[in-house]
Amino acid sequence: MSEPLPPTPGDDGDAQRIIFAISAALLVLVVTYKIGQSDAPVQAPVDQIAADAPFAPPAEDTIPAGPAGDAIRHGRMIFTATSAHAGQYVGNGLTCSNCHLDAGRQANASPMWAAWVSYPAYRAKNGRVNTMEDRIRDCFLYSMNAPASKAGTPPPYGDDIYRDLQSYFAWLATGAPTGKPLPGRGFVKLTATPLGHDPDRGATVFAGQCASCHGAGGQGQANPDGGYSIPPLWGPHSYNWGAGMAGIASAAGFIKANMPYGQGNTLTDQQAWDVAAYVDSRERPRDPRQTGTVEDARKRFHAKGDYYGTTIGRKVLGGG
Ligand code: HEC
Ligand code: HEC
Repeated sequence: MSEPLPPTPGDDGDAQRIIFAISAALLVLVVTYKIGQSDAPVQAPVDQIAADAPFAPPAEDTIPAGPAGDAIRHGRMIFTATSAHAGQYVGNGLTCSNCHLDAGRQANASPMWAAWVSYPAYRAKNGRVNTMEDRIRDCFLYSMNAPASKAGTPPPYGDDIYRDLQSYFAWLATGAPTGKPLPGRGFVKLTATPLGHDPDRGATVFAGQCASCHGAGGQGQANPDGGYSIPPLWGPHSYNWGAGMAGIASAAGFIKANMPYGQGNTLTDQQAWDVAAYVDSRERPRDPRQTGTVEDARKRFHAKGDYYGTTIGRKVLGGG
């Protein structure tokens, strides 16, 4: 055994210092590179954050007393328990707030405070200027499948249902600016992915992330005393082929920000597109605009963006 050598210039100590210095330099480089690469938005100035923050509707317990408050409260009940309060015009198992979440308060789930300040407005879907009443009527006709309801139609124009829903929406929009698009209106718009969307890939996402609540057959969970604790996504008790949610881009935007329930923004854009394609390639109630054949209606109303009139499996979709 020889004695340990006395320290000499260029010993381990120096080598370690050099390695340390090189690693530190590399670390700085890597970190700088990562920051450069990061797609996290650069922190916005404070005044900009305030301007972009979604509008906050008033707290639930501030609905006033008296006749105006009664109309607001009744409108809210129609919105959150539509079958119980406007049942003769509902032809499926849904309620307005199944899609317009948190009783119409939730940004990026088509909130009603943002809708209220946006009408009257032209809509390409029906080619005319729509009042808020027209717009609500369309959600009864398609999303709530009114043709299969007891009345067979949406509420007639002038019905108190519209008055009270609008009282609720106007109250939600208390203090909101008009004539200015509000952040959080409608759904998020997802850009198309290079892979496109595919129902088969979506089936896997559905089985893993959605079926536990909505059921393997998309049928939701019915309450023993009527209604649903989890809404149906397709089949005879869901929205019909004319509904906005039957459009894959709309469904993808809704799902991305809001589903799985309570875990919005956890799916990748690809998963959101694929699972939307899966949900919207299942059969559902017929499009009330269809007067002739499915093929005619496909050309007139479904030229792009959904699976109506296409063949999935061995069946042409759209027969109801
Ligand atoms: C199956 C889901 C679904 C149900 C149920 C539903 N809606 Fe909608 N609603 C939509 C979609 C999709 C849109 C379009 C969202 C967008 O702008 O991207 C929409 C839009 C609206 C708008 C216009 C929003 C805006 O900013 O222009 C109003 C108002 C509205 N719905 C009211 C209702 C009412 C009232 C009910 C119940 C009677 C209802 N909806 C039920 C899906 C639904
Ligand atoms: C934890 C349970 C749960 C999971 C998991 C879940 N959802 Fe939902 N989903 C709900 C509930 C509850 C609502 C209605 C929300 C309300 O009324 O406030 C809903 C509403 C919806 C709606 C609008 C209403 C309708 O019936 O069309 C769609 C579309 C939807 N979910 C799709 C999905 C998809 C796709 C997945 C999987 C990525 C998913 N959900 C996962 C509970 C869930």
